[in-house]
Formats: sequence, C-alpha cells, structure tokens
Amino acid sequence: MEDTQIIAEAENFAKEQLGQDKTGHDWFHTDRVRNTAALIAEMENADVFICTVAALLHDVADEKLNPSKEAGLNKVHNWLKKHLNDEEQSGHIMQIIETMSFSGGGGEPMSTLEGQVVQDADRLDALGAIGITRVMVFSGAKGRPVYDPEIPPRDESLQKEYRDYSKGTAVNHFYEKLLKLKDLMNTAYGRKLAEERHGFMLSFLEQFYKEWNQGGQKLL
Ligand code: ADP
Ligand code: NI
Repeated sequence: MEDTQIIAEAENFAKEQLGQDKTGHDWFHTDRVRNTAALIAEMENADVFICTVAALLHDVADEKLNPSKEAGLNKVHNWLKKHLNDEEQSGHIMQIIETMSFSGGGGEPMSTLEGQVVQDADRLDALGAIGITRVMVFSGAKGRPVYDPEIPPRDESLQKEYRDYSKGTAVNHFYEKLLKLKDLMNTAYGRKLAEERHGFMLSFLEQFYKEWNQGGQKLL
C-alpha cells in the first residue's frame, strides 16, 4: 500500500473508533494533533509519515475507550499488521503509542524524535484557546465546577489527585497540568508553539479573575 493510502485508511479507522467519544478524545482532537504533528515534523526534520500515522492512531488505544489498556493496544497492533508491511515502521508507531498511553500525558520520556513530535502535538492541543475549551467541556462532563472563589486556584493538595473530579474546579486544572506543559515540550518548534498558547492562557486567567471580581461589592 502507498503511504497516502495507509494514511487514508488510518483516518477512517480513527474516525470510526473515536466518532462517539465525549471525553475530549473525539476525531477532531485527533485531526488537530495529526496536523500539528506533521507541521512540527517538517520543522524538526522528523519522519512525517510515522508522525502522521502515530498521531492518527494515538487515542484509538486510550484506556477510556477500551475494556483495558492492553485491549486498546492490541486493536492498534492488529490494524498495523493488516495495513503496514514494513515491520520497522509499524514497530516504531506501536512503540510511540505504547509510551504515550502508559505515560498518561505525564513525564514518560519519548525515545525517538518522532515520538517526541507526536507527544508535543498532543500536549499542544491541551493548550491555548482549544485547550481552554477542552478543559471547560471536560469539566462540565465530569461535574467539575468552572470556578469557586473558596477553592484557591493553586491548591497544592488537589494537584496530586486531579483525576478525582469531585474535587477542585476547571480553573484548578490550569495549575494542576496545563501551565506545566510548556516546560515539558520535547522539540524546539513545539516549545515555540506552546509559549504562544501558554501566554494566551495566562491572559485568559487574568481576564477571568478580573471579570469575576468586577465591581467588588454586592449591590443587593
Ligand atoms: P490526554 O490524553 O491528553 O492526557 P486527558 O484525558 O488527560 O488527555 O484530557 C483530555 C482533556 O480534558 C484535556 O484537554 C484536559 O485539559 C482535560 N482534562 C483532563 N483532566 C482534567 C481534569 N481533572 N479537570 C479538568 N479538565 C481535565
Ligand atoms: Ni490525545
């Protein structure tokens, strides 16, 4: 199969697998990650084909969408066996997706440039205007309030257990994770994109607090 045909097949597979997802891993997230990954790959002289296919498949294995992590990874493995004859390429793609899935978006180091590119692209989608939208939608879906002036935005105790959605607010998540991602970028171009999005989130928070406190006094 030609590279372009494999990419088209991977698109269809990802669309079919992610179409119904409501956890922030829908097809449009994957499509953005795939475009950002291709852009960073070009700038960093990484293999665009490997980055594109790995980005397209990166959330198909997500444990939130599968009975288990292993079941998710098997699904991707079987797809690759059927569509990509080059064992080195499919092994590389599998290794990227495994590392991303076990790191849970955390600090697991990626061992190849292509893995670093795809991880950067995935992290970038949690930042900026899109990142702000995703954190609000995700919080709403999980029952996390947007903000509560009684809960300090930088509450340290919440940072360790931020997957317990019954605690804290959407605003807490900026300090728990989103504002830390800029310093975790792997590639120079990824970092450059992250800096712009990071700055936008800081302006958003500043404006948010300003509006929340506008006037200061209660009139009634
Ligand atoms: P990833 O697969 O990138 O690690 P997650 O499942 O952690 O993604 O997050 C998906 C989206 O939901 C992200 O944009 C993130 O900001 C948001 N999100 C994740 N955890 C929380 C949380 N505890 N509170 C609010 N938003 C969250
Ligand atoms: Ni993702």
